[in-house]
Amino acid sequence: MRIGILTGGGDAPGLNAAIRGVARRAFQLGLGVSGVKNGWAGALEGDIEELTPESVRGILPLGGTILGTSRTNPMKETDGLERVVKTMGRHGIDGLAAIGGDDTLSVAVALDKAGFRVVGVPKTIDNDLASTEFCIGFDTAVQVVVEALDRLHTTASAHHRVMVVEVMGRHAGWIATYCGIAGGAHVILVPERPFDIDRVARHIRNRTAKGRFFSIVVVAEGATPIEGTLVAREGETDAFGHARLGGIGNLIAQELEKRTGHETRVTTLGHVQRGGTPTAFDRVLATRYGVAAIDSVHRGEFGVMVALHGPKIVTVPIAEATAELKTVDPNIYEVAEVFFG
Ligand code: F6P
Repeated sequence: MRIGILTGGGDAPGLNAAIRGVARRAFQLGLGVSGVKNGWAGALEGDIEELTPESVRGILPLGGTILGTSRTNPMKETDGLERVVKTMGRHGIDGLAAIGGDDTLSVAVALDKAGFRVVGVPKTIDNDLASTEFCIGFDTAVQVVVEALDRLHTTASAHHRVMVVEVMGRHAGWIATYCGIAGGAHVILVPERPFDIDRVARHIRNRTAKGRFFSIVVVAEGATPIEGTLVAREGETDAFGHARLGGIGNLIAQELEKRTGHETRVTTLGHVQRGGTPTAFDRVLATRYGVAAIDSVHRGEFGVMVALHGPKIVTVPIAEATAELKTVDPNIYEVAEVFFG
């Protein structure tokens, strides 16, 4: 049997650890392994190479993905799914380990329905895939932002400024919430809870009245205001129909400067959050997921995604994992809110 590995969507630290986990377990079980280049683009075009123990050596700590990635969506191409299945057949690939977020895995669901064997591996720094506690890359992204928040605290305090820090999180504020808690933010704005800019400004003015002359506001890129007074930039959309976000931090900063009188600065962390070497947690998680994906193949269990449930790696139907996004657990957000007052 031969397994293809593909990484799709935005990259995330830990992808290479997952590729290595899949490949090494497959070699151990005597399976052939092919690397599909650049996500679904390579599956459409036949850009596929043999993976060997040598080709996955030394990649555990590397960020990015040795296979490349893309946001290509076969379902937007004429006969896209049929072309993918034919390409797999031409390359002797009997099943695919698809490592991705909800977009990549929604294609895996369609392939599964079409009768092709797939196993999903959850990755997205946004951590918004359902049916699993953590996705590959989230922990590293949180670590990167927390380091930035620690640094921003000292400069904000020195200049008595408001620092607005925009982080990734298109539909869910997992990064903002975790980083806000770990980095001691004074305000955390997430897509799940439309914000009131007046309330934010009031909170900063209250801090000033108590002698705290600086504030850190963490905002997820997908956060929106209640009144629609601050509107995120309308931009291009990708093949999965998502608008390119970015810019809410600047809009909030302008309003806060007006309403609080504090000098305000913006830091947009952007793709820095996705780059570089994965944390130990992400390396272990990605390795466990990779090995579990091949164990699932070995059992003949397809159409599933490997997932973390408490201490255990389990399998769940991919269709269930992609049916709806996992938004921030209100209990965790409430913990963050304790520190707003
Ligand atoms: O992968 C998800 C994500 O990190 C989102 O938070 C962000 O909006 C998007 O990727 C940015 O992706 P791109 O690489 O296309 O700019």
